[in-house]
Formats: sequence, C-alpha cells, structure tokens
Amino acid sequence: MHPLNSLPVPTLVDGQVVIRRPEARDAATVLAGTRDPLVREFMQGVVPHRDLAAAERWIAEVPPLLWSAGRAAYFSVALDDGPSVGWAELVDLRPAESAAEAAVWLLPGARSLKMASAALRLVCRFGFEQLGLRRIDAYAAADNMPVQVVGAYIGFRRAGFRPELFRSSRTQRLHDAVYATLVPEDLC
Ligand SMILES: CC(C)(COP(=O)(O)OP(=O)(O)OC[C@H]1O[C@@H](n2cnc3c(N)ncnc32)[C@H](O)[C@@H]1OP(=O)(O)O)[C@@H](O)C(=O)NCCC(=O)NCCS
Repeated sequence: MHPLNSLPVPTLVDGQVVIRRPEARDAATVLAGTRDPLVREFMQGVVPHRDLAAAERWIAEVPPLLWSAGRAAYFSVALDDGPSVGWAELVDLRPAESAAEAAVWLLPGARSLKMASAALRLVCRFGFEQLGLRRIDAYAAADNMPVQVVGAYIGFRRAGFRPELFRSSRTQRLHDAVYATLVPEDLC
C-alpha cells in the first residue's frame, strides 16, 4: 500500500459523477449533510456544523490534515463540475493489512439516481488502483438497505453480522451492522 500523503487528491469520473477534493464551495452541502436525519442516523460520530462559516473552515482544515497524516481520504461527490451533492471517504486506513473502510452519503435530492454506486465505485477504484489496497470494508446498519444494495451492486460481499456495532449520531441508539468486504477482482 502506498502512503496516502505520497499521492495528490485526484479527480475521478464515472459518467457524470465526479469525486474530487472538497472545496469551500461545498460548504452548504457539508453543512446540510451533517444535519441530515438519515446521515445522522446511519453514520457514527457526525457532528453538525454550527453554520456555513464553520463548515467552510472544517473543509479548509480537516480533509487536508487527515490526508497528509495518512488517516483518511475525503472526497466531495458532484455531478460534472457542479457543486457537491454528497461525500465519499476511505477511513481507518490500515497499511499493515492494506485495508480501509469506505462510506458514502448523498443529500436527499441526489438519492435514488444511481449516484451512490458510482461514487462508491470511484472511491474504491482510488483505493485499489492508486493506494494499492487489497481489501475495502464497509459497515452498514442492518436496517439501512439502500447502502447494502449499493455495495452489493459494485461487488461487496457480505462477510458478517456485528450486533450493536455502532451508535446513531441522531438518537445514540445502537445499530446492529452488516459487515461487507470488497477485493479488487470483484469491483464492478
Ligand atoms: C446510502 C445512500 C448514499 C444510498 O444512496 P441512494 O441514492 O439513496 O440509493 P438508492 O435510493 O438508489 O437505493 C439503492 C438501492 O437500494 C434499493 N432499496 C432502497 N430501499 C430498500 C429496501 N428497504 N429494501 C430493499 N432495497 C431497497 C433501491 O431500490 C435501490 O436499488 P435500485 O438502484 O436497483 O433501484 C443514501 O441513502 C444516503 O445518503 N443515506 C444516508 C447516509 C448513509 O446511510 N450512508 C451509508 C453509511 S455506511
């Protein structure tokens, strides 16, 4: 696996769907995402930004810091060269295993348009082709069917069930999780 900080933040394209470096113009999307009930329900540790300026500051500081520390690859998801409509990430990078964990969210207006599978495919392609990962993991709440379908659609295989694995950012309720993995040969 190559160190994340040895790579530039790429722009990757699948049809109209683009993943790229998060920019100041994405602040409204990042703000809305951290306040979205579904994102907060199904993702752990989502802290809503106070306002647009706080989201802008976070974008300027945190993604570059985590990238240079080799901790997380954060991408904005957009349609063509428009403003972002969601987020895709590789986190929990584990060089010893050549593995990482992927996640994605979209604003409500961008859902049900097949964008999620394109965004997840792009972030996984980055992980395999540029970072040299050998495996990408994903954890979905057992009651979060859309992301399980999206994952299966691009080649993730169900690998296990983890009772009460993570806590909803919205309600603090514990979710059971379905664990799935993807290897480069299966990405489609
Ligand atoms: C996860 C997320 C990105 C999925 O994107 P999406 O555009 O909403 O996905 P879709 O609505 O196209 O649903 C994906 C598929 O699941 C299917 N689906 C949705 N609900 C379903 C259900 N209850 N049972 C079975 N299938 C279901 C859809 O029909 C669709 O399949 P299709 O493409 O063959 O029609 C989006 O729902 C989101 O941002 N959720 C909040 C954050 C989140 O949960 N992130 C994942 C954390 S791991």
